[in-house]
Amino acid sequence: MARGKVVLMVVVCLAVAAAAASAASGGGHSRGRPGKSARLQLVPAAPGASMAERARDDRRRHEYISARLAASRRRRRAEETSSVSSAGAVAASAFAMPLSSGAYTGTGQYFVRFRVGTPAQPFVLIADTGSDLTWVKCRGAASPSHATATASPAAAPSPAVAPPRVFRPGDSKTWSPIPCSSETCKSTIPFSLANCSSSTAACSYDYRYNDNSAARGVVGTDSATVALSGGRGGGGGGDRKAKLQGVVLGCTTAHAGQGFEASDGVLSLGYSNISFASRAASRFGGRFSYCLVDHLAPRNATSYLTFGAGPDAASSSAPAPGSRTPLLLDARVRPFYAVAVDSVSVDGVALDIPAEVWDVGSNGGTIIDSGTSLTVLATPAYKAVVAALSEQLAGLPRVAMDPFDYCYNWTARGDGGGDLAVPKLAVQFAGSARLEPPAKSYVIDAAPGVKCIGVQEGAWPGVSVIGNILQQEHLWEFDLNNRWLRFRQTSCTQ
Ligand SMILES: *[C@@H]1O[C@H](CO)[C@@H](O)[C@H](O)[C@H]1NC(C)=O
Ligand SMILES: *[C@@H]1O[C@H](CO)[C@@H](O)[C@H](O)[C@H]1NC(C)=O
Ligand SMILES: *[C@@H]1O[C@H](CO)[C@@H](O)[C@H](O)[C@H]1NC(C)=O
Ligand SMILES: *[C@@H]1O[C@H](CO)[C@@H](O)[C@H](O)[C@H]1NC(C)=O
Repeated sequence: MARGKVVLMVVVCLAVAAAAASAASGGGHSRGRPGKSARLQLVPAAPGASMAERARDDRRRHEYISARLAASRRRRRAEETSSVSSAGAVAASAFAMPLSSGAYTGTGQYFVRFRVGTPAQPFVLIADTGSDLTWVKCRGAASPSHATATASPAAAPSPAVAPPRVFRPGDSKTWSPIPCSSETCKSTIPFSLANCSSSTAACSYDYRYNDNSAARGVVGTDSATVALSGGRGGGGGGDRKAKLQGVVLGCTTAHAGQGFEASDGVLSLGYSNISFASRAASRFGGRFSYCLVDHLAPRNATSYLTFGAGPDAASSSAPAPGSRTPLLLDARVRPFYAVAVDSVSVDGVALDIPAEVWDVGSNGGTIIDSGTSLTVLATPAYKAVVAALSEQLAGLPRVAMDPFDYCYNWTARGDGGGDLAVPKLAVQFAGSARLEPPAKSYVIDAAPGVKCIGVQEGAWPGVSVIGNILQQEHLWEFDLNNRWLRFRQTSCTQ
């Protein structure tokens, strides 16, 4: 009887210790103790894609981003003018289901392995900072999938990842549909259908798009299994795992559209309280980070996605060195991550770009996106940047190479012209954070012996997008609790 009491006391102590630990990490004070972060590998979806393919896909992606931003502007206006605006909200939300034209055309994205359900079922998903709903291809009671027969011309399935699979909610003990009558379905899930035939019916979506892409399915919650990092740098600490309960998951029973032949769905890293990023970050210190190796790196070099303290914090108690700038997480840009650009300079000279271009309030602004390859600059910024860069490169013979405006015969560099240095591009963010990408991130290898100025023009007014090539060889940490974006240059080898 005395022994029973002791056992009970020990159990209580353990429970208190666990609660204290999770409270500490939830409050953003985690110091990266071993097991306090989860690390996932990122694999390029189409490593062999040409620059021309990437440029084309990036333009489609930019259309998707612009359409979502416009839809959320419309919705905000509708909410301001009338309190009952369900029709307008539904029309606007048709853009919100992230499967519309160009969201996932394939070449610019990264795959991540993800396990969901009990027992855990493994999937290969597109990791996307521009999405709020995680979803997987699904086979349930409803209509069978038909889209797997069509082959994609663009995204060749990567041999590094497993072939597509389907999630079977009936096989998962932890799957729980979200009722359509729930507040989560009606207001938090932005794309759900407003009509609800009975209060127990599942929260569902059914969207078709002009470009023949479509998605139909139901939303529920399930648990996800993630591998915990070892905490000593190195290779992920083996087989320690954590289960995240209550992850919001779309179960897509019918889908069609390019980009989805090689993956099983999307892992949402956007800023939204239903996204996987916010769910995982709430468990692991309120932040996530990723590090992308050079897009031309050999296949065995791995990029990674970390929830919780990054490799810096794990190896020492000192705060991560590097720059930080406020993350703009307001409703106008959700679920995207916006940052404030102060100026762009070439060889130390700040370019003359109107401030509105960088202002979200003037329908400009800048987002950082994991699913865009080439950086897109709104017209005034694009013109200023390519003018300054091309002026410095004027000694080289130009080469025509669609869709780029400025390409150069780099092999001609040796004779005559001497050693022509690539001018130094720098982006100054609010809070004196400065991004100085390596030259290869903006004067890009486009063909053997040919380099191009690797930015694209975006419509003005419109949003500018920092693509993943400009982000490469940097660690980017999204501190959601404290609303900072931190970054620093690194080879991502940890
Ligand atoms: C929603 O309403 C439309 C039109 O009234 C109907 O065609 C559709 O089947 C309904 N969807 C659901 C999930 O009830
Ligand atoms: C999600 O955010 C909305 C407002 O954007 C809020 O009303 C809702 O309560 C939040 N849900 C959760 C689960 O935090
Ligand atoms: C990748 O493979 C090359 C040889 O194929 C090897 O030299 C290099 O060390 C490997 N890199 C990693 C990170 O394993
Ligand atoms: C680049 O210039 C060299 C001569 O300097 C020429 O042989 C080569 O064909 C040119 N390449 C292209 C792509 O124009």
